[in-house]
Amino acid sequence: MKTYSERTADELKAILAEEKEKYEQIKALGIKLDMSRGKPSKEQLDLSKDMLTCISENADCYDEAGTDCRNYGSLAGIPSARKLMGDLMGAPADQTIVCGNASLTIMFDTVARGFTHGFAGNTPWAKLDKVKFLCPVPGYDRHFGVTEHFGVEMINIPMKSDGPDMDLVEQYVNNDPAVKGIWCVPKYSNPQGITYSAEVVERFAKLKPAAPDFRIFWDNAYGVHIITENEDPRDDLANILERCEANGNPDMVFVFASTSKITYAGGGISAFASSKKNVEEMLGHMTYQIISHDKMNQLRHVKFLKDIDGIKAQMQKHAALMRPKFLLVDEILKKELDGLGICSYTLPRGGYFISFDAMNGCARKIVNMAKEAGLVLTGAGASYPYHNDPDDSNIRIAPSLPGLDELKKAADLFAVCVKIASLEKILENR
Ligand SMILES: Cc1ncc(COP(=O)(O)O)c(C=O)c1O
Repeated sequence: MKTYSERTADELKAILAEEKEKYEQIKALGIKLDMSRGKPSKEQLDLSKDMLTCISENADCYDEAGTDCRNYGSLAGIPSARKLMGDLMGAPADQTIVCGNASLTIMFDTVARGFTHGFAGNTPWAKLDKVKFLCPVPGYDRHFGVTEHFGVEMINIPMKSDGPDMDLVEQYVNNDPAVKGIWCVPKYSNPQGITYSAEVVERFAKLKPAAPDFRIFWDNAYGVHIITENEDPRDDLANILERCEANGNPDMVFVFASTSKITYAGGGISAFASSKKNVEEMLGHMTYQIISHDKMNQLRHVKFLKDIDGIKAQMQKHAALMRPKFLLVDEILKKELDGLGICSYTLPRGGYFISFDAMNGCARKIVNMAKEAGLVLTGAGASYPYHNDPDDSNIRIAPSLPGLDELKKAADLFAVCVKIASLEKILENR
């Protein structure tokens, strides 16, 4: 098979005419599909049905310690939920705070506290001329949205196959006191599905930041979100809290997680974990912000998920629903696009996304064409700070929500859009 670049202009024009015809045919089907976000499907949400009934009587509303979860109190969360979320995050229960329904809120609040009050007695960031964050790319659009909202200068750090480019991370963090943080999704990263290697985690733990209040924002959103049947040893993520402590940097990391994609997206519980000192500091702020989070939901989660093994069993059920979707998209991309020399993409072992790299200068066009034919994808550039993908190449595909039939149509349409945009690009450059 010849790659597109190896073909003559006439051959390319003929293929382009064919693909354009296919595009018009698909467009005429009137597809209406939104794959812009990694939302769980209805079937995945149905897996948590017992959450709806596990508290149904007044007598069900007490936790193991006898706390009435309907009332105020337990700022840091009920002990059983702190244990559950701590186990999920690799943190002791007393270093874990259980919060509301979204980890993004905790991340936003944490950045906000950096600005208003500062960390560990250091100058509040709002009083500094410049605050910088490192942003492994491609990455999670909402992380970059938070730091953009606060006027932080964001610096792209390329992702490698085992995590962020650590030479660059060390260079920035260890030399520039304006660098106050880095966003990390360390396991089954959004969007590539990469898990940071033990070596990368160790290099994080050994950082010698120029800023005493530099913090790693370790968003382990997909820590248990396997897609394959068995976990690959490469996805055995080292414990950042333990490694930081062992390397004399106990306060350098903030860990975040939630059950958004374990139970209900937007109806789960979230958590923050860090050193005892940082946890105390956070609770000190929270005490002015809230009397207690929703303990009824915490209790519901403990009753339903029980423990870390219960969480893993639940994730196997999710995986059984997710796996065929990822395999279907992969199969269609392989069949339609492999060998043409116009793209590369990942088949992740976990997480929620397929990260697709088109030819430079094609992503926006592909996303626009898909939209015109009824398929909404995440905006091109969204996985980069300021929505600016310097290569205009990366597209995040989120296959979880649609059923297999719809997904097939969407993947077929996507492949046609990729071909057309690539053919036009190559012809333009001839
Ligand atoms: C990396 C990452 N962190 C956080 C979230 C959102 O989590 P939550 O619902 O707990 O705010 C997502 C959702 O897509 C995500 O991909």
